[in-house]
Amino acid sequence: MIHPDVERVLYTEDELRSRIAELGRQITADYAGRRPMLVSVLRGSYIFMADLTRAIGLDVTVDFMVVSSYGAGTVSSGQVEIKKDLSDSIEGRDLIIVEDILDSGNTLYYLMDVLRARKPASIRICTLMDKPERRTKPITADYVGFTIPDAFIVGYGLDYDERYRNLPYVGVLRPSVYESQD
Ligand code: IMP
Ligand code: MG
Repeated sequence: MIHPDVERVLYTEDELRSRIAELGRQITADYAGRRPMLVSVLRGSYIFMADLTRAIGLDVTVDFMVVSSYGAGTVSSGQVEIKKDLSDSIEGRDLIIVEDILDSGNTLYYLMDVLRARKPASIRICTLMDKPERRTKPITADYVGFTIPDAFIVGYGLDYDERYRNLPYVGVLRPSVYESQD
């Protein structure tokens, strides 16, 4: 059953699963012999992170960061705030930043700067969704699950005003849901 606030399903559970398995295989091959540290940018990436790490056949470590750039709206405020920092040192590590969606690029532009200053050996970005049309900062991801058009999507970890994260698929939110509130 589709949620009544969802206009259409963009990616089903099966489609997500098989694409994430491919990403996992690619990362496993690219990092063969290394122990990458996966950094999940919460909260949106929590489900993707859980599935992606299980699709990687390497000795990985995980860490989490809470970053916020959105209020209750659908457009990034441009103000990025670290609400919870990493627990471990990243110096000399091969980092893979795991994001739910790359939109304006504000969040990762800021985060890359902060993390680079801590001297990791390398940093790559893995995002489940990419909306390149909306980019205002020079940021590109090294691994992209799906490139999508400019629509506000929810589900599989992605929220609107903290709702819909638990939908097992990714869907386009009906504009009436946010137009009535913004
Ligand atoms: P950026 O800083 O504009 O690139 O936005 C990145 C963050 O905005 C993502 O990590 C998401 O949490 C959120 N975001 C951007 N687009 C969407 C969307 O379509 N649905 C839900 N969250 C979104
Ligand atoms: Mg969000």
